Amino acid sequence: MEFRDLKKQYEMIEDEIREGMKTVIRDCNFISGRQVDVLEGKLAEYVGAKHCITCANGTDALSLALMAWKIGEGDAVFVPDFTFFSSGEVVSYAGATPVFVDIDKDTFNISVHSLENAIQCVIEEGYLTPKVIIAVDLFGQPADYPSIRKIAEKYNLMILEDGAQGFGGEIEGQKACSFGNISTTSFFPAKPLGCYGDGGAIFTDNDDIEKYLRSIRIHGKGSCKYDNIRIGMNSRLDTLQAAILLPKLKAFEKYELEKINQAAAQYTEILKDVVKTPFIKEGFYSSWAQYSVLLPENIQREELQQNLKRDDIPTMVYYPKPMHEQKAFLDNYLVFDELSNTKEICRRILSLPIHPYMEREDVEYVAECLKKYLCPDTLY
Ligand SMILES: Cc1ncc(COP(=O)(O)O)c(C=O)c1O
Repeated sequence: MEFRDLKKQYEMIEDEIREGMKTVIRDCNFISGRQVDVLEGKLAEYVGAKHCITCANGTDALSLALMAWKIGEGDAVFVPDFTFFSSGEVVSYAGATPVFVDIDKDTFNISVHSLENAIQCVIEEGYLTPKVIIAVDLFGQPADYPSIRKIAEKYNLMILEDGAQGFGGEIEGQKACSFGNISTTSFFPAKPLGCYGDGGAIFTDNDDIEKYLRSIRIHGKGSCKYDNIRIGMNSRLDTLQAAILLPKLKAFEKYELEKINQAAAQYTEILKDVVKTPFIKEGFYSSWAQYSVLLPENIQREELQQNLKRDDIPTMVYYPKPMHEQKAFLDNYLVFDELSNTKEICRRILSLPIHPYMEREDVEYVAECLKKYLCPDTLY
């Protein structure tokens, strides 16, 4: 069984993908080709943002956003302690200080209580200037932006939405990647909308920021390619990847998002009495980058994973280690609470296979196997 079945997806849309790739290769328009512009227009329209600027990957997207805001030494950037490394890495890379914040125990997204406490502590200490909240749409569910926005306004902070896992999610009909002052996503192959390599995008409604981002993603470009007016980076989405993403976006909108939500609902129905199943807030919609459950405390996770592997069921642990325990941050980070939710969830989380092409029988098989190991006394 595949954890995320990209082969089946390819079988479904193979002709369109091949045709798109052939056109790019025939035209030899590999960098900044027409397909990139078309894709940017379609992505902006889908998300409901004024501008979409594609780039080389989701990590660069976050870095470019911080560069556009001139975040650097002396600045505090608030990041959930439970996320992929990139969300915090980009802060240190910019020369600023990441302040790791605990997560909500139900949604696994940034805790607004822990966030406000951390902001107040930074202000009281007086060494750093609070600048940005990086809110992550973990596992496909948007962070609690209505509450985060109130805090951002109260303390005059920018919101950077890390929607690498959140593309396709919604709050009350508003799409993920439209909640930040700047929002970003990743097209890493296994993401809700993935390409066939690395890719990323940035979304904003701000015209000046858009122009600035378009410049710094291509070596600080000015009036033409050989006029460089600022230091930037080389971070473009390949035309081939744009051609691959165009039919993929169509399938994503047309049926994939609905199908993956059906698979998630089926899992929850079968597993709800055995493990803590994902909690989606009222009015929120997930794009299910992952379907992650919390195992009971007494379960040996590695042994369970080995057992499931013998049943041909791949599982993953996203994430085994809190950000503040990552050696790379050395002592250049701050925390102001126990981060107890993060620590507990790192111990108990397990992600199951999920994708839009999973048959009902496959979901049932995974769920029943999991039940078999968690409740060995029950006959299934
Ligand atoms: C939450 C989060 N942020 C950022 C990234 C970085 O994206 P990329 O791998 O495209 O650089 C990822 C992807 O793995 C992610 O899951």
